[in-house]
Amino acid sequence: MNRREFLRSVGSAAALSGPFGALLDAAACEREPSSEALDGVSSGGRYDRAYREAVRRAQRGGPPREVRLIAEEDEIEIGPGRTARTWLFNGEYPGPALRLREGERLRVTLENRLSEETTIHWHGIPVPNAMDGVPEVTQDPVAPGETFVYDFIARPAGTYIYHSHAGLQLDRGLLGSLVVEEAKPSQPFDREYVLVFDDALAGPPRPASDRGEGMMDGRGMMEGMRERMMRDRGRTAMPETDPARPDYAALLVNGRFPADPPELEVRRGDRVRLRLLNVCAHTTLRVALAGHRMTVTHADGRPVQAVEVDALEFGSGERYDVLVKADSPGIWTLAAASREGGPSPARAVVRYLGSAATRPANGTMPAGLAGGRVLRLEDLVAIEETEATPPVTGAPDRVFDLTLSGGMMMQRGWTIDGQRYPDAPPLEIEAGQLVEVRMTNRSMTDHPMHLHGHFFSAGRAIKDTVTVPAHMGRRTFAFLADNPGDWLFHCHKLYHLEAGMARVVRYRS
Ligand code: C2O
Ligand code: CU
Repeated sequence: MNRREFLRSVGSAAALSGPFGALLDAAACEREPSSEALDGVSSGGRYDRAYREAVRRAQRGGPPREVRLIAEEDEIEIGPGRTARTWLFNGEYPGPALRLREGERLRVTLENRLSEETTIHWHGIPVPNAMDGVPEVTQDPVAPGETFVYDFIARPAGTYIYHSHAGLQLDRGLLGSLVVEEAKPSQPFDREYVLVFDDALAGPPRPASDRGEGMMDGRGMMEGMRERMMRDRGRTAMPETDPARPDYAALLVNGRFPADPPELEVRRGDRVRLRLLNVCAHTTLRVALAGHRMTVTHADGRPVQAVEVDALEFGSGERYDVLVKADSPGIWTLAAASREGGPSPARAVVRYLGSAATRPANGTMPAGLAGGRVLRLEDLVAIEETEATPPVTGAPDRVFDLTLSGGMMMQRGWTIDGQRYPDAPPLEIEAGQLVEVRMTNRSMTDHPMHLHGHFFSAGRAIKDTVTVPAHMGRRTFAFLADNPGDWLFHCHKLYHLEAGMARVVRYRS
C-alpha cells in the first residue's frame, strides 16, 4: 500500500466547558449543524441523559482524541508492479485503523479533497443524529475543499466500521475499522487481529442501472445472468443471480490480495481474538480457518455467549469477533469466500511462531468453507444488559411488516414495500416506543439490513445489521426509540441502497 503519513494531533482542542451543549458547539465549529438536528440531540430523553453522563465522564478522562481524515484520490498497489487510482482516507487502504477506549471522546476532522461531496458514517455506533453522516438526511454533504468535524463519545465498546455514506464511494475504498476497547473483555485473550474483508473493483464503481444489466432490451438480463453463471460455475455451490452485483476483481483482507496474504503470528497456547469486519459493498462471505474451530464471542460488537463453529457467514456491514485457541502448530489458511459466486476467496495466513512449515497445511482452503457447523442467528445469545444496549423485550408499541423485493427489472430498482427511496415516506414513530420490524425477502438474493443510530434485538442477539435470507427468508428485529432523529434504515449492499432499498425512520423527542 502507498502509505502516507497518518496525520494525528493529540489534545490540541479546547477542553469541553459545558456538559452537553459544549460538545455540540465543538461539533459546530466548522459548520453549524441545523437547529433541527440539535433539537433531535437534546431530547431530554433516556438516551440523552445517558449520553450527557458519557460526555461528563469523557471530560474527566482528558482531552478528546483528535483525528484528521483526508478523503483524497490516491494510488494503491493492485498486484506486483501494478497500481490503480482510487479514493482513500489518508492514502491508506483500508483507511487508518481507529482505536479508542470505551467512553473516550473522538473528534474527527474530515477534509474533502475529492471532486465530489462526501461524508463519514460511524457504522454501528449510536451517535447523536447530527453526527451520523448521511448526506441530506443528517447533514449537508461536505463539499470539495471543505471540512466537517464529527464529534461523539465512543461507546459502547465494540467492533465498528467507518465509511463514506455518499453515493458509491464506499466501493472505491473510503472505509476503515473503528475498534472501541472494553475495560474488561467478556472473554480473555492474548493477542488480537482486525481483519477487514472487502470486495474490490478493477475500476470506478457504476450504478447498476448504468451497467445495462437487468435491462430487458438489447443484451437481455437472462442472457447476462446465464453468462455470469457459466463463468462462476465450479467456484461456489450457489451461483449469484443478482443483476446488481458488479464484476469484482478480487476479495481482499486488509487490502491484500489472496496471492499476497497478511500473516497473523500466533504462539502455541494463545487465545487469539479476531475481529472480522465485512466491509464489502456487496459480497456476503463465509469465513473459516483451516485446522481450527472458532468461538464466536461478539456479534456486531455486542458480547454473546460463546458458541463454537467451523464457519460463519456474514453480510455487508456485519461484524463478528471470534476467539481461536492456538493449539495446532503450523501454518493455516483463513479464507472468506463469496456466498454467491465471484472472485476467489480472500486469504490470510495464521503462522505459529517457531513453526518449521513454510506453506499452509492440508491443501489451500479450510474445510469449513464447504462443510461443518455454520453459525446461525439462533445461536447468538446476548450476555449484557447495559444502558447503551438494553435488551428489548415486551410487547411492541409499533409493528412494521416490510417486504423486501426487486432485482428482476432494474427499472423498478430495489424496494421496501414496493417503494423506492427517496420516493418513499419515512417510517414515523415516537420517542420511547418499542418498535418491531418484520422483514420478508421476496427476492432472489439476501439483504443485510442495517439500522442507523440504534442497536436492536434480533432473536436473542443484539445487533445493528441482520441479513435476511433470499427466497422468502424472514427476520424480525425490535428496538427502543431512545435516540431521536432521522435514521436511515437500509440494505447494506451498496447497489441495492443506491437503487432504493432504504427508508428513513423518524421521530422527535
Ligand atoms: Cu454502513 Cu448506512 O451504513
Ligand atoms: Cu439488498
